[in-house]
Amino acid sequence: MSEKKVRIGIIGLGNIGKYHAGYLLEGKVKRCELTAVADPMAPLEPWKAKGLKTYEEGEKLIASGDADAVIVATPHYQHTTLGIAALEAGLHVMVEKPISVHKADAERLIAAAKKRPNLVFGAMFQLRTEPRYVKIKKLIDSGELGRIVRFNWIMTDWFRTEIYYASGGWRATWKGEGGGVLLNQCPHNLDILQWLCGMPSMVRGFCQLGRYHEIEVEDNVTAYMEWPNQAVGAFITSTGEAPGTNRLEIAGTRGKLVLENDRLLFIRNETDMIEFSKTAKAGFARPDIWKVEIPFDNAPAQHATLTQNFVDAILDGTPLIAPGEEGVRSVELANAALYSSLIGQPVQLPLDAAAYERKLQELIANSKFQKKVVQVGDEDFTKSFVR
Ligand SMILES: NC(=O)c1ccc[n+]([C@@H]2O[C@H](COP(=O)([O-])OP(=O)(O)OC[C@H]3O[C@@H](n4cnc5c(N)ncnc54)[C@H](O)[C@@H]3O)[C@@H](O)[C@H]2O)c1
Repeated sequence: MSEKKVRIGIIGLGNIGKYHAGYLLEGKVKRCELTAVADPMAPLEPWKAKGLKTYEEGEKLIASGDADAVIVATPHYQHTTLGIAALEAGLHVMVEKPISVHKADAERLIAAAKKRPNLVFGAMFQLRTEPRYVKIKKLIDSGELGRIVRFNWIMTDWFRTEIYYASGGWRATWKGEGGGVLLNQCPHNLDILQWLCGMPSMVRGFCQLGRYHEIEVEDNVTAYMEWPNQAVGAFITSTGEAPGTNRLEIAGTRGKLVLENDRLLFIRNETDMIEFSKTAKAGFARPDIWKVEIPFDNAPAQHATLTQNFVDAILDGTPLIAPGEEGVRSVELANAALYSSLIGQPVQLPLDAAAYERKLQELIANSKFQKKVVQVGDEDFTKSFVR
């Protein structure tokens, strides 16, 4: 008897849609086959020639019966609409990050998935499979780091040129994308932030709109955060800075983790620092430390690993590495940092989703921005994957 295969459709054949199609056609994900693709803009002939069913619109692929599951790889707003349409049609859904543009939309998508618990709903947060973050999570979850007191991520390594923004009419506009660096590049980092440390209870964002590029959305951000247990953090990001930095530092009561330049250092306090401070007999005494370099496999995260996990979840009920509903958290963090900056005040979480949606609608309605679009030749898009 032949083994059951999940028939996968890809909606959106831009940078990442083509990438997903590539590894699926190469057979890198077992027990599934790419059967259909949809895109209103991309040339469909080459896909037809490979034996795939092709559609000029995602909704048509969903209604076709050619797929059991879809990967939604369109601009962000359609993650919600197409994701809901696919779930309502009884298809399993993997949405690209961010799962939606704003929290209210994310909640709509999640509600559609909750109504159909027999369907698998995943989100493409492949960074969760990166060995470096897996190691950090293990150190935190096992208590090695003690209680987290401070989180700092300088993630200014998302450099993008002017032509990048001009390469798609939807990019970096309130109407087409709904945000900038926080919503396009940072969902991965914000997902890792909450995956490692949980959700903060307060965010104060400072977002510069079009600081480095001719765009109307944020491309330079500093966000201060507080957690319910009094831990604090700063998340700093930019698409305009070169060479840029990618440095993650997490301080706990039992030590400090620093991830930078492909090295993970754990400087461990022999004694919990709070205990030490309370019991030390000398004013300038410090806990003894051990410096440990934590090795990790440097191979890049594989989107295919998450897609394999999605297929395994459909066929065997394997737990998802990145369940779709957890995608609301990075959306909420991005929205909160932007909202706080726009209103000039700290924002308490949970974020008022309706208030943020109104603010975004206001930005769309008041936009006078004229988007320049240029045709860009084929570029190696995988260079955009940052760890
Ligand atoms: N996980 C990752 O590493 C990763 C990397 C890049 C992009 N992304 C995400 O993937 C999404 C797409 O990004 P991109 O860079 O590929 O954009 P892109 O502009 O290159 O491609 C989007 C494609 O979707 C198509 N499309 C729009 N509406 C559609 C519809 N209704 N039906 C079918 N196709 C439709 C467009 O014609 C376009 O070809 C974004 O949300 C982005 O955040 C994720």
